[in-house]
Parts: sequence; C-alpha cells; structure tokens
Amino acid sequence: MFLCTLAALFAVTWGAHQHPTTTTPIPKTDHELIQDLLAENAALRGRLGTMEQGVGDLSRQVMLQQLFVEERIRSDGSSGLKQVRNQQSGERSYLTADYATMGSVAGIHEHINNIRTVGMGELNVVLNGVEFRTRHNDYRLYMPTTDRTYNGRREIPFPDVPPAVLAKLTVAEQVEEMKEWFKAFKMQDHSVRDYRKYFKPVLCYMEGGWTTNTKTLEEPFFSDRHHIDASSWFDLQDKVRFASYSGGKSSLENFAYLPTTIINVVNGTPEYAQWNYRIMCHPLKNDLPTSAFEMIDDVGERMKKGMPMSRYNETRLARFQLRRQIPTNRNSYIPRTYLWGLLDDLMYEIPGKDNYGANITDDSLGLTMYHVNSNTEPLEPVNTAYYNRMYKIVEKDAMGNKNVHRGFSDSNFFAAQTSNPRIAALSVDTCKDYRDHKTHHNVHNCTHYSQRYTWAIPLEIIYLTPLYEWNPHNFRHTTASGGPEIYSTTHNSQGQVRNGKLDADHAYNGTWDKGFYRTPIELFSTTKAVGADRADTAKASVGVLDPHGVVQKVAASGTHIILPNIEGVGKVRTRYPIMPVHADGEQSRKELDALKEMVMNMAKYSSLFEVEPTTVSNANTQYNQQPHMLKVTPTTQDPPGYHGHDLMITQADIEDMKKGQTVRGILTTTDQQHQHSIDIHMDAHGQYVMAACDGLPRCWDGHDTHLTLDF
Ligand SMILES: *[C@@H]1O[C@H](CO)[C@@H](O)[C@H](O)[C@H]1NC(C)=O
Ligand SMILES: *[C@@H]1O[C@H](CO)[C@@H](O)[C@H](O)[C@H]1NC(C)=O
Ligand SMILES: *[C@@H]1O[C@H](CO)[C@@H](O)[C@H](O)[C@H]1NC(C)=O
Ligand SMILES: *[C@@H]1O[C@H](CO)[C@@H](O)[C@H](O)[C@H]1NC(C)=O
Repeated sequence: MFLCTLAALFAVTWGAHQHPTTTTPIPKTDHELIQDLLAENAALRGRLGTMEQGVGDLSRQVMLQQLFVEERIRSDGSSGLKQVRNQQSGERSYLTADYATMGSVAGIHEHINNIRTVGMGELNVVLNGVEFRTRHNDYRLYMPTTDRTYNGRREIPFPDVPPAVLAKLTVAEQVEEMKEWFKAFKMQDHSVRDYRKYFKPVLCYMEGGWTTNTKTLEEPFFSDRHHIDASSWFDLQDKVRFASYSGGKSSLENFAYLPTTIINVVNGTPEYAQWNYRIMCHPLKNDLPTSAFEMIDDVGERMKKGMPMSRYNETRLARFQLRRQIPTNRNSYIPRTYLWGLLDDLMYEIPGKDNYGANITDDSLGLTMYHVNSNTEPLEPVNTAYYNRMYKIVEKDAMGNKNVHRGFSDSNFFAAQTSNPRIAALSVDTCKDYRDHKTHHNVHNCTHYSQRYTWAIPLEIIYLTPLYEWNPHNFRHTTASGGPEIYSTTHNSQGQVRNGKLDADHAYNGTWDKGFYRTPIELFSTTKAVGADRADTAKASVGVLDPHGVVQKVAASGTHIILPNIEGVGKVRTRYPIMPVHADGEQSRKELDALKEMVMNMAKYSSLFEVEPTTVSNANTQYNQQPHMLKVTPTTQDPPGYHGHDLMITQADIEDMKKGQTVRGILTTTDQQHQHSIDIHMDAHGQYVMAACDGLPRCWDGHDTHLTLDF
C-alpha cells in the first residue's frame, strides 16, 4: 500500500518536471518497484559498508599518525622540561627563554604569604613522547590518598617545631634556638641538634596519562590561584588554537595545550582519549642529605647573568640532579652509569593512579617484571603500581636474566600501572603454538593482556621546615579567606584598613591561609646595604596583632626557594629543582655536555684534548662583569598580591652609577605573573633607587623605590 502511494508520488513529481509529451510512460508494476528499491538498498548497503571500512581504516591511520609523531619525539629527546614561556627578545640566542627565563628555571617563584602554594610557571613538557603545555602551575603541597579514589589528594602534614625551640620562654630566645636548628640543617650536622625530624623532604612530581573522560573538562589539579579557563575540552582546544594563531596568550596564563588522541579503533569506531597531567608531592620516607644533589651547569643560563658557579646556587636559575648514590666524599665523586640509583628508590615510593598501598605485578607478554636488585629466589616482582623505569626479566630456557630500561631511548620517564578505568587501556593478544604431548594436537593458545599506565618525571625536592608550624606570637589563624576584620584593603565595618602596616590601626588582626605571616622578623638578619630606617621594609615584614593587641613584625612563613639570610647561618635553599630536560636525549646535547665538561675542567681532562690546551690567564678575567643581585622591596598591595622581585646588574653598572649615571631598562624576575623594567641610580647615601619603573616614577603595584643589594 505504502509503496503504491510512493510510486504514485514519484510519478506525479516526475511528470510535473517533464515537458508535456504525447507518449505517457507505462507505469511500473508494484513488483518492479519493489525490485528496484531492493536493488537500490543493496547498492546503498554496499556503499555504506565500503564507507564504514574506509572510516575505520582512516581512524586507524590517524591513530598511527599520532604514534608516528610520538615515536619521532621519543627519539628526538627524552622526557622532561622542554621550554618555558618566553618574555623577551635577546641579542644572543641563549638570552631568550629555554628551560629558564631570565629569572628562574621552570618559572619557579614564591608565594610565601600562602600557606601551601608553591609557585611554578607555564611549562612545555614532553612525557614519553607526548608533548603538551601546562597552565600556570602554582601547585599545592598535596599528596595522594591511601584509597583508590581517582586523583585523590590530601594535605601533606607539616613538620613539628623542635621541642627545644618551644621550651624557650621568650620569642627572642626561641628565635636564637631556631637559628641553631637552621644552622644544623645547613651544615647537615645532626650530632647536637637532630634536624632530620624537623626538616622533611618532599618529592614533587609531574604525572601524565591518557584519560577516558573526553567529554567534560577535568581540572588537572587544584591550585588556589589558577584554573583552566575553558568550559569543555573543545572550548579549551579552540582557545589554545586561537591564542597560538596570533601568538597571543591568556593574560592569566590559564590555557593549557593538552592533546587528544584516538587510543583504539574498535570495529571501525574510534575511541578517543584526552591527555591530562597533574603535579603532586610525596613526603619521602627517609631523610635526604643535601650532598645527594649535584648542581647542573646550564652554562647558557649562567651566561644570561654572567653568573659564576659559586653564586649560581644562590639564584633561582640553578637546576640540580640527584646523584646515583649519596657520596661519601663529594670531591672525589665520579659520575657513572647505573641501573637502579637513588632517584629510582625515591620514585619507587610514589604510587600511580591507584594511590598508596596498591600492588600490581606486570607479567604481560608472558614474562614477569622483577626488581633489578632482587637476586635471590623467590625473586621479588616490581610493584608496577609505583613509579619505576628499570626492571629485570628472567627467561627460562637458559637465556639468562636481562635488565630492561623502559623507553627505547628515553632514560628520564618513570611508569606506573593502574587499575582505574579513568585511564585508557591498551590491549594485546600474545599467542603460543605448541604440540600437546598427551593429545598429540597442535595447540594455538592466545592470552589477552590489557594495561593502563601513567608516566611521571620528578620536578623538585622541597625541604619542609619548622617555620610552617612555628607561631611564637600565638597569632589567631583562620583557614578561610580571613574576612575584613583580619584583612581589608578598604575600610571595614570599624572603619579600619587592615593592610599589614606596622601600626596598630593597620596591622592584620591575625593570620589566614593566604596571609600566612608568623615568622618573627628577627630570625632574618638585617641586610647590610640599607640604612636602619629601611631595614624593615627590606626585610619584608608586615605587622600582625597578637592576642594582646600588640603589633608584631613578622615575615611570611610559606614555601621559599631560598630563605633570606639568617645571622650566623647564611642563606638556606629549601627548593631543589631536579626536573630533567627534553634536550637530555638529543645526540648533539650529549656531545655538547661532554665538550662542556672538558672545557670547564681543562686541567682534569687535558689528556683528552687533541692538542694540549694552553692555560687561560686569570689576569684576563673581566672583573667588571661580576654580577650583583638587587632586590625589589616586596609590596602587599592586592591586587596583584604579596610579592617582590630580583634583578641582576654587573659591577660595571655599579661603577657607572657611582659616576652619577642611570642604568636603564633592567628586567626583573617574574612574580605574580609580571615583571618590571627598571631604571636605577645611586642616591647621595650610596643607596640604589629606582629612577623609573615601567616608565613611571613608581611601580604600579606599590613597590618601594629603594632597592637592596643582596650580593
Ligand atoms: C606484591 O605482590 C607480589 C606477588 O603477589 C608479592 O611477591 C610482593 O611481595 C607484593 N609486594 C608488596 C609491596 O606487597
Ligand atoms: C594458555 O597460556 C596461559 C598463559 O601462559 C596459561 O595460563 C594457560 O594454561 C594456557 N592454556 C592452555 C590451554 O594451554
Ligand atoms: C581582633 O580580632 C579579635 C578576635 O577576632 C577581636 O576580639 C579584637 O577586637 C580585634 N582587634 C581589633 C583591634 O579589631
Ligand atoms: C652555595 O655554594 C656556596 C659554595 O659551596 C656555599 O657557601 C653556599 O652556602 C651555597 N648557598 C646555598 C644557598 O646553598
């Protein structure tokens, strides 16, 4: 019935478009029409099948293109930091950004007024061949949980204050005792004061993987300062494409380039996966002596600032690596290859996405992965729920044992397995053919293996100090935002402006999580270059009311890179960046590293030179290139929030200033996502003063015009 109507309709439509003719076409019978439609249907089905096959093949090819790109990146370089955001042009290639900007490696900076925030900029990273770009990181001191919650996190406990400090009756005495503990830590001398219980190292790492949630945007990890500025993965991709097209950026640095991929093609249908990453920290089980660190001579970074090695460790530019073992004598330490070193031990304490307490063994492809250092039967399998990069396999038929390093050419990444379905799985079938001796049949036995892996690299080791918990003035602390009675940049209900100035009317009334000022300023020594009147601002103290309503001068107690000078102790570094770099895996970089070591230590390696080098005369070293660091006084103006800056000048600049000249256009470090261009001159008292800041008489964010000479 339906077909007849359809046929009639066809006929009418067909007829309407024809010029009137004398011969009327003979209408088709129902049977003929059905035959036609069936034929058409079969043809369409055939074409659909071909198209389905085509889409399936094409999807597979797209998937293989991604593999091709990854394989290419894997052999071009290893996992690690590739690039930070560039902020300036330069007259030498090394003057522009690589894995450091002018100011710091990986854009590390401080948010010391914030109880748990660790400052780190935008990074371009490669992790097992996947290249991606992070948002401005500013991560928090969080660790994984002990349950199986996906991306579960909890706060890392802060170390206690040494009871010997708390036992002192006055704040002044507590300060003196605290200095001794910092001295013990700096000297790494635990004979009198066992600092190891109160200075606790945490290893912060970056973990990445292909996730199965391709629909809704997942914030990589919590930061109280930054979040991805997009409503969905699609929105983020469009924003990144838009910004990259013109070379612009999100002013808040909240775009991240996180690729998507076709992870599997099942029956012609592509399954997508979304790359995501996070930064987490893990409190190390044991103390880590600072002799475990070796400073890496990134000579390009030193050239940026004319920085001798002896000063390099006091800047944010220095990058370190963990030695394969803790040296007994640092001077006679020889770099060697190794299978399982200190870093392997430390990373093996860190779980993948199954969190702490999981135990997974990997026996894919019919071979169990054993721990490299397990030598007696029964061999201990590697717990692949924790990060590792080396394992041992035992082949039964006298092939012997083999140590395997993960990654064909990438020595930097660690891998951990997970059972969490939020991480995309890859599967493989392995088959064995053998002859069953009982049945005399040939057996074709296939086993299906399916695995989910994430990858990680270390970022830095941070020593947590007793300063987080030390509150000698017994300030009231609120974990929340504070409220106008504690902190207010405008007049609160009592008509007060509480902005941290040093008088009772303006001092903060207590502390809060983002106003974490509780270290007595007396802990840090006066900077010698400033007069007594300027000492307090230079030391960046703020006023906080104690429970008796008395103003106390205190400094911020959050995570420092290098603590300000402590009398009788000096500077104490608490953050050791140990991230590997992508270039570690480049062949030319390997040659360059070897050459660098030879050139930097000519006497030691003289036998390796083709022609014995002539000595470099000390008399030729240019003293006026000696670097100096000036500190811009911190400001509490909000926005942009509490921060200071550093800037580098040379002895020649100082000589010029002494002659009355102004040194112009010196760029500061980037803090609170901005830097300043500063003109400096020397006033009648020999102090360094800003002549201009970004072309204005004063910086827009209220820094004092006086600068302090740090060294
Ligand atoms: C993990 O499981 C394997 C095999 O079941 C066992 O040999 C190993 O001791 C376990 N490891 C841990 C840390 O529990
Ligand atoms: C097939 O191989 C698996 C894994 O090697 C083994 O556990 C299983 O017993 C084998 N099955 C047969 C029928 O041989
Ligand atoms: C400071 O805060 C405390 C408790 O919140 C309050 O009792 C006190 O009056 C406040 N002091 C001033 C000067 O506002
Ligand atoms: C930097 O190295 C020098 C020389 O070894 C040392 O005296 C100084 O204390 C170090 N500074 C820091 C912050 O570790």
